[in-house]
Amino acid sequence: MYIGIDIGTSGTKTLLTDGQGNILRSQTREYPLSTPQNGWAEQQPELWRDAAIETIRAVLDGIEATQIEAVGLTGQMHGLVCLDKADNVLCPAILWCDQRTAAECEEITSIVGKERLVELTANPALTGFTSPKILWLRKNEPGIYERTAKIMLPKDYVRYILTGENASDMSDASGTGLLNVAKRDWDPEVLIKLGIEKSLLGRLCESPEIAGRITQSAAALTGLPEGTPVVAGAGDNAAAAIGTGVCKDGQAFVTIGSSGVVYAHTSDMRFDAAGRIHTFCSAVPGEWHVMGVTLAAGMSLKWFRDNFMPGKPYNELDCLAEQAPIGADGLYYLPYLNGERSPHLDPNARGAFLGLSSMHEARHLVRSVIEGVTYSLRDCYDVILQTGLRFAEIAACGGGMSSAFWRRMTSDVFGARVTAAQTTAGPALGAAMLAAVGTGAYSGVAEACSAIADQQPDSVEPDPEAAKEYAKSYAGYKKLYPALRNVP
Ligand code: XUL
Repeated sequence: MYIGIDIGTSGTKTLLTDGQGNILRSQTREYPLSTPQNGWAEQQPELWRDAAIETIRAVLDGIEATQIEAVGLTGQMHGLVCLDKADNVLCPAILWCDQRTAAECEEITSIVGKERLVELTANPALTGFTSPKILWLRKNEPGIYERTAKIMLPKDYVRYILTGENASDMSDASGTGLLNVAKRDWDPEVLIKLGIEKSLLGRLCESPEIAGRITQSAAALTGLPEGTPVVAGAGDNAAAAIGTGVCKDGQAFVTIGSSGVVYAHTSDMRFDAAGRIHTFCSAVPGEWHVMGVTLAAGMSLKWFRDNFMPGKPYNELDCLAEQAPIGADGLYYLPYLNGERSPHLDPNARGAFLGLSSMHEARHLVRSVIEGVTYSLRDCYDVILQTGLRFAEIAACGGGMSSAFWRRMTSDVFGARVTAAQTTAGPALGAAMLAAVGTGAYSGVAEACSAIADQQPDSVEPDPEAAKEYAKSYAGYKKLYPALRNVP
């Protein structure tokens, strides 16, 4: 049996699998996200540690723990965790969706040079990434920065608790803005130019590599046997790809969690010259992926539900949305609640309802939220297609994609066959499968993916009439951001 641990934004999920993709047990602990200022997003790393320990204990309850062959880690990307020499957490982690670092992104771009930065790190400086967060901390909290002895990503902090190793994997490290994504190593030129000591960063591994083993103290905390291997794992999207069976050219998936992502695997490195999508290493050693990110995807619907229909189950929201026509009778929603990454790269973008009329009812508002998020994902998909990649179908995963209504809409809006993954546990399952690969159960990641992919997927084909209606509505949506960019 293998354990996969996903340090998510809304909670930590730990699951136990037999290594063929069957989930034997799964446990989740939720925790809050704090927004101390407009545009900020923080979490205390100790919440992740406690949730990981509790969920490991819970999945092991009543099981002979020596049956666990290995553990894999995944989690929200980009977060900045700082530890001092004595391994104390120095401040709350600054998260992937935090937008405070627009000035630092400009600084990085001017120090390294816009084109040189993309040449080296494959991506422009973006507020979500880790490097501008490091510069922000150095400028605004110099006392904390001076005491920082180790910098880690969220899942790597949990690894440190479990194994005592400061290590990361190529996919998650790609999102720091400090990795040379082509060469798969920390980039010396970027580190020197930004004045960041390499010694602060973790050792790099490919995703299936064993990065450490459960220490005696972690064994006492979790119930896992001392010495159990812990593989490097992957950022949540690269791990979701494995859990969804996406590991070869021509394969892609769309996921809707808090954020929404359109992800495509590629064995050769592809870029968007304007940097509108990310190019990161994948969990397949020596290969890559491109992805576009909508920051407030599931978060948009949750925000709407929590504020205007508290407690209403998501399936009831779907039923309500279905009672409004495609295009919500001219009502549009822009999902830029926390600024936007793909394709606008604009931390100052904000959400909007547009076209409200007295004829609109709650059903139109719900539908427009779901449509707006789907249109934003279509924007991402279009940029991915512009890199020359093509797909016969798109896998669907994540909480939002467990809705048949949302999958059908995605199929109609993208004009593509959408295949539901059997599980919504994509990242945690992917991490557990990487653990199986790393300890020899499979000869490689592709073999592990095909073991999971044997399950019968549920597919939906675009409906030509619906697709035509959505195309009209999407054409209207595309005009709104450029028109509103400088308003107010
Ligand atoms: C990816 C990203 C998000 C987080 C959320 O670049 O920022 O998908 O990883 O979990």
